[in-house]
Amino acid sequence: MAGETNDKRSGQTAFLRAMTGLLSLAVLTAMVFWVDLDGYYDWIKAVHVLAIISWMAGMLYLPRLFVNHVRTEAGSDMSDVFKGMESRLLRVIINPAMTVSWATGLWLAWRGFGLEPGWLHVKIAAVLVLSGVHGHFSKAVRLFAEDRNEKSERYWRVVNEVPTILMIVIVVMVIVKPF
Ligand code: HEM
Repeated sequence: MAGETNDKRSGQTAFLRAMTGLLSLAVLTAMVFWVDLDGYYDWIKAVHVLAIISWMAGMLYLPRLFVNHVRTEAGSDMSDVFKGMESRLLRVIINPAMTVSWATGLWLAWRGFGLEPGWLHVKIAAVLVLSGVHGHFSKAVRLFAEDRNEKSERYWRVVNEVPTILMIVIVVMVIVKPF
């Protein structure tokens, strides 16, 4: 009974967090599109690159924390240290960096390319998958915080490679622009 109530509460908190994130993304994107920024293309691109560096740094580091967290005993001091690191990394770096990456990326795609080229479609598709992986990691942070992770060390080691592969596709698309 108490477990069910906890599940419900943590589900509600996760839902509220997701809604707050989506709302910030919508507001930031609306601001970037509403203000006349046409003379600032290179500045927006600089902000975009800074944001994606932070997003990727977090997306590459978080599953490494999971790999080590799995090895600790639930309720131990070490496990609590990992919980704090994971939660801070997600809330302070990864979530805001993703929001800024999307808002600036969509603006660049619209003002610079009218959302038309094929490479841009592939890039956006890869970023959508990356955002799905981000969602999976957010859920994992919550499950680890409640000592409910059921995935193995091997699972997190394999998943750890997914953001790297997506990053290679994304960067090749935007730099080489093959089609
Ligand atoms: C969130 C959705 C994203 C969209 C819609 C988007 C779109 C764009 C667009 C249109 C440009 C300008 C390209 C140019 O001026 O030639 C750009 C630049 C760039 N993007 Fe993204 N991007 C997104 C996310 C990402 C991510 C996740 C990464 C890396 C993993 C990334 C890496 C880059 C890099 C390295 C540049 C600079 C390319 C250059 O001009 O040298 N972007 N992005």
